[in-house]
Amino acid sequence: MKPKILVTGKLPDQIMKTLAEHCVIEANSEDKPMAMDAILALIPDKDGLLSMITDRVDEDLMNRAPRLRIISQMAVGYNNIDVDAATRRGIAVTNTPGVLTDATAELAFALLLAVARRVVEGDKMVRQGRFRYWAPFLFLGSEVSGKTLGIIGMGRIGKAVAKRASGFDMKIIYHNPDRLNVSEEERYGAQFKGLEALLSEADFVSLHVPLTEKTRYLISKQELALMKKTAFLINTSRGPVVNEKDLVEALRTGVIAGAGIDVYENEPALEPGLALLENAVLLPHVGSGTLETRTKMAEMAAESLLIGLGGNVPPRMVNPEVFKRNKS
Ligand code: GLV
Repeated sequence: MKPKILVTGKLPDQIMKTLAEHCVIEANSEDKPMAMDAILALIPDKDGLLSMITDRVDEDLMNRAPRLRIISQMAVGYNNIDVDAATRRGIAVTNTPGVLTDATAELAFALLLAVARRVVEGDKMVRQGRFRYWAPFLFLGSEVSGKTLGIIGMGRIGKAVAKRASGFDMKIIYHNPDRLNVSEEERYGAQFKGLEALLSEADFVSLHVPLTEKTRYLISKQELALMKKTAFLINTSRGPVVNEKDLVEALRTGVIAGAGIDVYENEPALEPGLALLENAVLLPHVGSGTLETRTKMAEMAAESLLIGLGGNVPPRMVNPEVFKRNKS
């Protein structure tokens, strides 16, 4: 008998076809998050779940799904999944690391350039017919080349951002729980710093950490106060890594110069006042949002799901102890 799966996001037709060859599928046909009520109503008889970051995959959901063997998340981040609860139940959890590294690093750089050079403000000015003359001091931004970039979280995406920054002759400093080895530091031209030193020295601070209890509110009032008044904050990681209320206050009162933000504390809601600030560039959580990358993510998520449902160890497990325990 074919295993039953729930796919909560819209996937490319070809991938749905492959899944249908091996599984009985219930799927979200709309390109928007599936309502939690619908997910909970459909999950009880499912063997596999192909989930999105917008789903709340918690203990309650797992309690309703006694047959669930694998949760394959189409994202690198999986803070929406209670991984410990899954592990306790022997449910494998997988994600899609690697394929979205370049796309996310590109977007971090797009935000960095856009906010420093006032790209969005300038576009608005031109469209509104307010571009009436060129003048030496009109609409000046901050130069990026040669400035100091502070990368917090020097994993795959942090390193990809460093690679791009070297093309802009930026000085790269980084903070990470584990220091890179000397040859990696040399390869990325990156110098390790304590968090406080990084915040006070960087002209641009870019966040590339996963959301965990340790990184929630990593950047709050105190940290923003350490940054230069001329500095910019870029966040393409997860919204709650930054205290958004404190960020709005810092942007409003000139504690920092600007911010490029792709992710929000209470996504998709925005902290009141954020959308009114000209010194913030705001995007709708599209770090991995290229056709190429989203297609690869969907392929990877489907592949992991099928391998896991076939009784084999799926690739890219975030809780490999599930299979080690089953073996012993
Ligand atoms: C997107 O935010 C992801 O984690 O892949």
